[in-house]
Amino acid sequence: MKTKITELFEIEHPIIQGGMHYVGFAVLAAAVSNAGGLGIITGLTQRTPENLAKEIARCREMTDKPFGVNLTFLPTVNTPDYPAFVDVIIKGGVRIVETAGRNPVEVMPALKAAGIKVIHKCTSIRHSLKAQQIGCDAVSVDGFECGGHPGEDDVPNMILLPLAADTLEIPFVASGGMADGRSLTAALALGADGINMGTRFIATQEAPVHSNVKQAILNATERDTRLIMRALRNTERVMNNAAVEKIVATEKALGDQLQFEDIVEQVAGVYPKIMLDGQMDAGAWSCGLVASLIHDIPTCEELIQRIVREAEDNIRQRLSGLL
Ligand SMILES: Cc1cc2nc3c(=O)[nH]c(=O)nc-3n(C[C@H](O)[C@H](O)[C@H](O)COP(=O)(O)O)c2cc1C
Repeated sequence: MKTKITELFEIEHPIIQGGMHYVGFAVLAAAVSNAGGLGIITGLTQRTPENLAKEIARCREMTDKPFGVNLTFLPTVNTPDYPAFVDVIIKGGVRIVETAGRNPVEVMPALKAAGIKVIHKCTSIRHSLKAQQIGCDAVSVDGFECGGHPGEDDVPNMILLPLAADTLEIPFVASGGMADGRSLTAALALGADGINMGTRFIATQEAPVHSNVKQAILNATERDTRLIMRALRNTERVMNNAAVEKIVATEKALGDQLQFEDIVEQVAGVYPKIMLDGQMDAGAWSCGLVASLIHDIPTCEELIQRIVREAEDNIRQRLSGLL
C-alpha cells in the first residue's frame, strides 16, 4: 500500500506506533519498523539525553529500517532539557521525530536544519493548522477515542478526520481507536494517509511491558476507560482501576478546586510500577477505548501483516463489491 505517509517516511506500510511512556523502548520500535511500519522510541522515558542516545544506538542494532523518536511537551513535574534531547536525536542519525503536547516551535529550527521529518500529534484542527504553519511535515490527528491525552475539545475521529482532510495540505494519519484492517480502511476513506496506534501495540509479543498490562487490555470493554485531570486542563484517558477510582472520587469532591498535588500519588512516577512490575493498581496509565477491540497478543509482524491484508480485502472485496 502506497500513501503520502509511506513515501514521506520511506516505510512499507502506513502504520505508525505512537510514542508511549514506558512502552516505547527500542525493542518495540525496532519490531514495528522491521515489520514495515514506523516504530517510535519514547524520548522522555529515557529520562536523560545520554540514556536516549544509548536507546537510539540499541534500536539501530536491531533494525536497519527507519524509526523515530517521540518528544512530548506536557506539563511535567521537572521540565526536561529539550535542546539536549534534540541534540542526541540529531547526533544519533534519527530521521523522524514525533512531537506531542505543546506546539514544537522551539525545537523546529534544529530539527529542520538537520533534515529531520517532524510529525506532530494534534487533537484539534486549529493545532494541526498551526503545526502545518510552523513547518511540520505531517500531523497525527488524535481523536477523542485515543489513549493518553485527547485534549479538551472532545471531538472524535469520525468528525476530526474529514475536517483534517478538508483543511490540511500536509499528509496526516488517523490516531486514536485504530486496531485492525477495518480501522485502516476507514481512516483512508475519511481522508487520512495511514494510522497511528498506541494501545494496540501494547498487546504485542515484543512490547516490553509486564504481562498483567497486556492482560488488562485483553480484559477491557469499551466502558473501562476514564477521563481524569479535566479540571487541570490536562485530560488523560486511562484504564480504570483502584487508583483511578480514587482520582475520580477526589475530582468529584474538589471540582474546579482540584490541584495536581491532590492526585500526585496516583499519577506521578507510577509508570515503572505498572508497566515494568505489573502492579495494576499502582496508578493511572493511559489506555484507549480501542482496548475493547483487542483480543490477542500477536507479534508486530503478524499484527501489521493482518491489518494490511484485512484493509486490502476490505477495499478490493467488501467496498468495491458494493458498487
Ligand atoms: C500507555 C500509553 C502511554 C502513552 N504515552 C505517550 C507519550 O509519552 N507521548 C505521546 O505523545 N503519546 C503517548 N501516548 C499516546 C499514543 O502515542 C497514541 O497517540 C495513542 O495511544 C493513540 O490512541 P490509541 O491508544 O487509541 O491507539 C500514550 C498512549 C498510551 C496508551
